[in-house]
Amino acid sequence: MKTEALLKLEQSIGELKKEFISKIESGAQKVDSIRVEYMGKKGRLTSLLETLVSLPKEEKPEGGKLVTGFRTFISEKIEELKKNAQSSNISKLLSDSCVDVSLPVDSNKGSLHPIMHMKQEIIEAFHKLGFSYCDGPEVDFDFYNFQALNFSPDHPARDMQDTFFVDDKSASEPVLLRTHTSNIQIHTMLDRTPPIKIFAPGRTFRCDSDVTHTPMFHQVEALMIDQAISFADMKGIILWFLREIFGQDVTIRLRPSYFPFVEPGGEVDMRCVRCKGEGCNICKGTGWLEIAGCGMVHPNVLEAVGYDSERYMGFAFGFGIDRMAMLKYDISDSRMFYEGDKNFLSQFPIFLK
Ligand code: DAH
Repeated sequence: MKTEALLKLEQSIGELKKEFISKIESGAQKVDSIRVEYMGKKGRLTSLLETLVSLPKEEKPEGGKLVTGFRTFISEKIEELKKNAQSSNISKLLSDSCVDVSLPVDSNKGSLHPIMHMKQEIIEAFHKLGFSYCDGPEVDFDFYNFQALNFSPDHPARDMQDTFFVDDKSASEPVLLRTHTSNIQIHTMLDRTPPIKIFAPGRTFRCDSDVTHTPMFHQVEALMIDQAISFADMKGIILWFLREIFGQDVTIRLRPSYFPFVEPGGEVDMRCVRCKGEGCNICKGTGWLEIAGCGMVHPNVLEAVGYDSERYMGFAFGFGIDRMAMLKYDISDSRMFYEGDKNFLSQFPIFLK
């Protein structure tokens, strides 16, 4: 004859089992919370153990078996539920992230980053001028970035460009992130023979960061080499290029300046696009904006790439693409270009053509 206490235990287990099954079948409760409710420290199983303690000695083994059997049943069911949940999660993830390539493109979605749009306009302008697109390495040897551009190893002008060096012990000379796109001049001249008429937009790097400088920025370089190229040709091309980008009322002025790879060298100022020369905060009251470096390619550079500097001549100039985009789109802090802030970027709804 079973005692009252054992019968009560059997009955409780039966009821709990029913309740447990209906809970898992309804799927209304999370698996983890069901586990805590039954197997947790203060869970239903613990209270069953308390009933077990109150059984007479001879019924304890049977009562123990019942409780353990129920415990195994619950934990197996919970494991099974967890596994199912995991695999259905995976299949949901897979089906959600699946891309239907046959769907038509939504032409209102996505836009070019303002820098890329600026670059695109620059490319179109140079193509109209008959210049061809060139590219070059972003990680380069000292030779292409400095040495062949007439920066000797201890030249103080190297200090103008805070360089990121790459730790490459196997290299026979310093390896660096190019500080300007002028390295492409050297690569191109070594690869080709004159006449050369190229432009090269690309990423450049300097250890510098403030409102108008970011460690990574963009430049575009232009290079023209032939037998009779003058400073006036260069000035005309720069003016045409700037008018194409900023409008036909652009005027420029050239100031003498020093860059080791050009002689004579200069800086190009453009009449302020905002105040048209009156003086404002963009041009710091001067009415002019510094926009490019330029000059006639130095004979030492021509000789460094094996060209006869008595026979060939040419010009080179370089613009900052970020700076042009700041002026064109009226952006005051260049760091905003690289923060990936959707609110900022969505102000340039420039759609892909
Ligand atoms: N590479 C120069 C710089 O990053 C800019 C520059 C100046 C480029 C004069 C040129 C040039 O081609 O002729 O500061």
